[in-house]
Amino acid sequence: MSSPALEAIAALPQVELKSIFTADPDRLTKFTLTQGPIRFDWSKTHLTDELLDGFVKLAGDKGFAAQRDALFAGEPINNSEGRAAEHPAERGEGNAQSVSRAKMFHARMRALIDAIEGEALGPIRHILHIGIGGSALGPDLIIDALGGDGARYDVAIVSNVDGTALERAISRFDPEATLIAVASKTFTTTETMLNAASAINWMVESGVEDPYGRVIALTASPEKAIEWGVDETRILPFSESVGGRYSLWSSIGFPAALALGWDAFESLLEGAAAMDRHFRLSPIHANAPLIAAFVDQYYTRVVGCQTRALFAYDERLRLLPSYLQQLEMESNGKSVTRDGQPVDGPSAPITWGGVGTDAQHAVFQLLHQGTVLTPVEFVASIEPGHALDPAHHRALLVNCFAQGAALMQGRANDADPARAYPGNRPSTTILLDDVTPDALGALIAFYEHRTFANAVLMGINPFDQFGVELGKEIAKSIETDGPKGFDPSTMALINLALGGAA
Ligand code: F6P
Repeated sequence: MSSPALEAIAALPQVELKSIFTADPDRLTKFTLTQGPIRFDWSKTHLTDELLDGFVKLAGDKGFAAQRDALFAGEPINNSEGRAAEHPAERGEGNAQSVSRAKMFHARMRALIDAIEGEALGPIRHILHIGIGGSALGPDLIIDALGGDGARYDVAIVSNVDGTALERAISRFDPEATLIAVASKTFTTTETMLNAASAINWMVESGVEDPYGRVIALTASPEKAIEWGVDETRILPFSESVGGRYSLWSSIGFPAALALGWDAFESLLEGAAAMDRHFRLSPIHANAPLIAAFVDQYYTRVVGCQTRALFAYDERLRLLPSYLQQLEMESNGKSVTRDGQPVDGPSAPITWGGVGTDAQHAVFQLLHQGTVLTPVEFVASIEPGHALDPAHHRALLVNCFAQGAALMQGRANDADPARAYPGNRPSTTILLDDVTPDALGALIAFYEHRTFANAVLMGINPFDQFGVELGKEIAKSIETDGPKGFDPSTMALINLALGGAA
């Protein structure tokens, strides 16, 4: 830990959560912040005035304000790839030129959606969205959270190269009423291109007259999509400076805009834009993504927690943990800083989680009594997503709040240690008014900016992902040159399962 500001933070005594509210009666007000439709509550973490001051100093030392300005100005802050990171421009925030370019791309997307709704491509009922990683997780989350039974089209998001994924999706689709959306920033990703080719074959075998006429390409590489066979009029481009895991706001969000309607998609963008402005303009002490990053930094780099858990106490947000896994781990799971130096301590923890109350009956035992300290984040909504007996939602929220209290308080039991709860286990609660498009947009943008803030505090570039390349290269070399020069274990596995075939 070579940063003096972080060393000073580490030297501060840690308070006991059990007595934290009596030690500071203003604590709830101080460490709770409401931004639009979202309330953030860090009062049940170990954050104190002194820690906050220490992190404000760290942010200053790391040039946080200048880097945030560079992000919104569209400067090439993704230094390893010489690119800007312009997802805020998709929401109308940032560099004016990039904002107007994004608006033009959105207008093109909207026109195509209008045409599809007007049945210009035939009577479409099913959308087969093919993409992986950032080209799948965002649309999947949004449609699942906001679509419910009200989605206007039946959408299947197929990502895995395992043919079972595609087979299951198409088995419920009528090929004559299906539109294929091929989502790939690069338009070269093996899984996506193989799935797209098989989807075309399915249409050909089903007797669809012009299968390529049913394909929409969502990409930052239009020339590759044309080469592959997509007509230029059905290509929805987005800017190269929008990273894959930050791309749901661009044409990658096409299936969501189609299934939920343009107004909902626009509200999603507006909610995110409101969070952009909050992040850009709020002072450090009242800046939700930055305070959340301070808490993350404290537990990961000072306390030494290796994981961070998120539980969505709302079925509509059940895909949020897997979405965040890519956002946080692909962005900040790095060992070197943006200058190529070793990171001065641990970087991103493992993000994991699930849905409440299910998780209470599966993994919460470890959270309450295990030896691994895991900071927990609860995300819930005041309004329910269903019309059933209000007792359901009441029970859901009561459980959520009870878990946070139990983790913090614990309970002594000198007579029977197996029944004792140590307590002093931190949790953050994020409470939405409702899971509406604008609230979800704001929530996702909050996580994006929190990830960026964490990166700045560690000196990392969160916008590249070279760590995913080696495995891909090796897989490709096996396909092209056959299995050569591997260790005995890998050779044996290839021979056994693939017959040694290239
Ligand atoms: O392999 C990682 C990755 O590059 C992600 O960052 C990205 O979201 C995903 O693959 C898909 O890439 P593409 O959109 O180019 O198909």
